[in-house]
Amino acid sequence: MSGATRTSTPNRRVLVIGASRGLGEAIVETYVARGAQVVGTAQDDGPSPLHDFARRNGGAVEIEKIDITVRDQISALRERLDGRAFDLLFVVAGISLAAQDAVGADIDTGDFERMMDTNVLGVMRTVETLQDLVDASGTIAVMSSGQGSVSGNIDGGFEAYRATKSALNQMFRSYAARHAGEQRALLLMAPGWVKTGLGGPNAVLEISDSIPPLVDTIDAQHGAPGLQYLDRHGESVAW
Ligand SMILES: NC(=O)c1ccc[n+]([C@@H]2O[C@H](COP(=O)([O-])OP(=O)(O)OC[C@H]3O[C@@H](n4cnc5c(N)ncnc54)[C@H](OP(=O)(O)O)[C@@H]3O)[C@@H](O)[C@H]2O)c1
Repeated sequence: MSGATRTSTPNRRVLVIGASRGLGEAIVETYVARGAQVVGTAQDDGPSPLHDFARRNGGAVEIEKIDITVRDQISALRERLDGRAFDLLFVVAGISLAAQDAVGADIDTGDFERMMDTNVLGVMRTVETLQDLVDASGTIAVMSSGQGSVSGNIDGGFEAYRATKSALNQMFRSYAARHAGEQRALLLMAPGWVKTGLGGPNAVLEISDSIPPLVDTIDAQHGAPGLQYLDRHGESVAW
């Protein structure tokens, strides 16, 4: 990916969970271009765009392996990273399995459970387990979606996926409530509808339209305590 708009970042040490391809991989590339040291995760040993990028940018990127739906793998990653510190933890991993037009009772139970397990429980377990690696005044970001907005749901569609992102927002709010008064920035991010494996070919944005401004927004929130639900340009998204 190209199009990084700045050459430096307050987030010098970055941990991106779910970085093998798509938006997560582009976030890794953008932070490396801004001079950061980045750990990115994949579910397997590749090949993947992340593995290709790491090969070309040896010293700046480390790859760790994790499936966020497996508790022991999250704990094992925490142990492997013991003693490390990060300015930014960004949990990007997510899936969309159910057919776009599947509604209500037609949604496949297995698809629904797998999406909730990944997009909600897996993400929050990862945040809870890795949080203490983040500096006291650092940032914990989670990739939500504009589709997680309950009040913004005017047209329906993607009903199951939407529900997982709303549930993620709710659980991250609970996390923020438990950590009220702490210095960390807590960010739920909405990247826009982007052409990736998940976003599909009809999405309106290229990765290069979404990620550089999204990273600008995360960097701009560095040192700003508390919870925000933001789009890539830094505008608040209605809950
Ligand atoms: N694209 C969009 O339009 C859009 C819009 C709003 C929000 N989002 C959100 O942005 C995030 C990234 O999406 P994307 O568009 O980049 O999708 P993508 O290209 O399909 O990439 C998904 C990433 O998540 C990882 N992942 C999936 N399940 C995982 C698990 N159990 N454990 C660890 N990693 C896992 C994948 O790793 P593997 O390669 O190993 O499977 C991959 O790196 C998701 O949370 C998505 O909901 C995307």
